[in-house]
Amino acid sequence: MANVLVIGAGGVGRVVVHKLAQNKDTFDKITLASRRLESCKEYQDEIKQKYNVDIDIAKVDANNVDELVDLINKVKPDVVLNIALPYQDLTIMEACLRTNTNYLDTANYEHPDTAKFEYKEQWAYDKKYKDAGIMALLGSGFDPGVTNVFCAYLQKHYFDEIHYIDILDCNAGDHGYPFATNFNPEINLREVSSNGRYWENGKWIETKPMEIKMVWDYPQIGPRDSYLLYHEELESLVKHIKGLKRIRFFMTFSQSYLTHMKCLENVGMLGIEPVEHEGCKIVPIQFLKTLLPDPKTLGPRTKGKTNIGVVAKGIKDGKEVSYYIYNVCDHQEAYKETNSQAVSYTTGVPAMIGAKMMVEKKWFKPGVWNMEEFDPDPFMEELNKQGLPWHIQKM
Ligand SMILES: NC(=O)c1ccc[n+]([C@@H]2O[C@H](COP(=O)([O-])OP(=O)(O)OC[C@H]3O[C@@H](n4cnc5c(N)ncnc54)[C@H](OP(=O)(O)O)[C@@H]3O)[C@@H](O)[C@H]2O)c1
Repeated sequence: MANVLVIGAGGVGRVVVHKLAQNKDTFDKITLASRRLESCKEYQDEIKQKYNVDIDIAKVDANNVDELVDLINKVKPDVVLNIALPYQDLTIMEACLRTNTNYLDTANYEHPDTAKFEYKEQWAYDKKYKDAGIMALLGSGFDPGVTNVFCAYLQKHYFDEIHYIDILDCNAGDHGYPFATNFNPEINLREVSSNGRYWENGKWIETKPMEIKMVWDYPQIGPRDSYLLYHEELESLVKHIKGLKRIRFFMTFSQSYLTHMKCLENVGMLGIEPVEHEGCKIVPIQFLKTLLPDPKTLGPRTKGKTNIGVVAKGIKDGKEVSYYIYNVCDHQEAYKETNSQAVSYTTGVPAMIGAKMMVEKKWFKPGVWNMEEFDPDPFMEELNKQGLPWHIQKM
């Protein structure tokens, strides 16, 4: 039986507490903490009503290490799930280190003033975590997260060597708004408007935003325009999948989404530097976040499906082989179960499964780890049980 502290009561945090409550045989004590207590209170009531499970709530500023340390000392969790924003990864990791507590997140550290994310600063905690005998599991969402586990699973069961990987992320959900993002708008727009990047023959190749496009026929959805982006799991997978020659990441966008984004970018609304406005300073992208629909409210309106998967090509028993492994998630089904659309659902479920792997000691070793460094089998089994069944096909 485990005691778990979740930090961040946003769209993904809601799914995480639903799934923890559904797995109360494993997680007998759940605390949800966030910057605003109202956000936690709403989910606390929802969980009590739906599952008759009591969760504790707390207010915390996750940018403040001392506040986090006090909270962790009070709750004494077996693991802290960081479901706040990537800006808080380092403060929460530091607080976990100071309190000898295990850590999990779903997105890698991003500095608020630079639209750039990388594992360097989190990996730098590896020795300190090892010395303390505690574990950090990085990127336990869908992508990163399940996509890393898919790669490890293909590597273990279907290939002697994987040479090419394409990660393919399609969200064919329709929320009826002219423009909205399915998760935190600031994080989402920073990611999408940055240069693309992929890895080939040992080198990173940079592309302009949306420069490389292909059409992929997504099972249960159909053909969709898919654009090459840089995505954080590429950084760890190039280290851990041996024999790799190329890895890329593609995400679908509609023409309407891209036109809105281009227009916002052209007028400066995606800027991350503060600008002077009538005597006060505002950060354009943060102001835009205030104007856009809150992703938490998209659940009841979003119809359609997501399909996220991995296509790998390589060698098995001397022959060239290729496999496609993917999950399809329905926005309305996700909403019925957790009051959240599929983008939050596909992130929150793997966060809970990652925590389950850690507290059940199926995945446990001191240090800082990425998902593909563990045996994929128990995680893949849980995906099928916890609402994210996967399919595999030979290409
Ligand atoms: N790996 C994946 O597949 C994947 C996919 C999507 C998202 N993600 C990641 O999942 C995380 C959550 O995303 P989301 O869509 O749920 O975002 P969100 O709806 O904006 O929720 C984040 C929550 O964090 C809380 N928060 C922000 N700053 C805080 C602080 N200083 N102290 C305490 N709480 C703070 C906010 O709580 P209040 O309401 O209390 O202010 C907010 O509700 C992000 O890191 C995102 O990058 C990963």
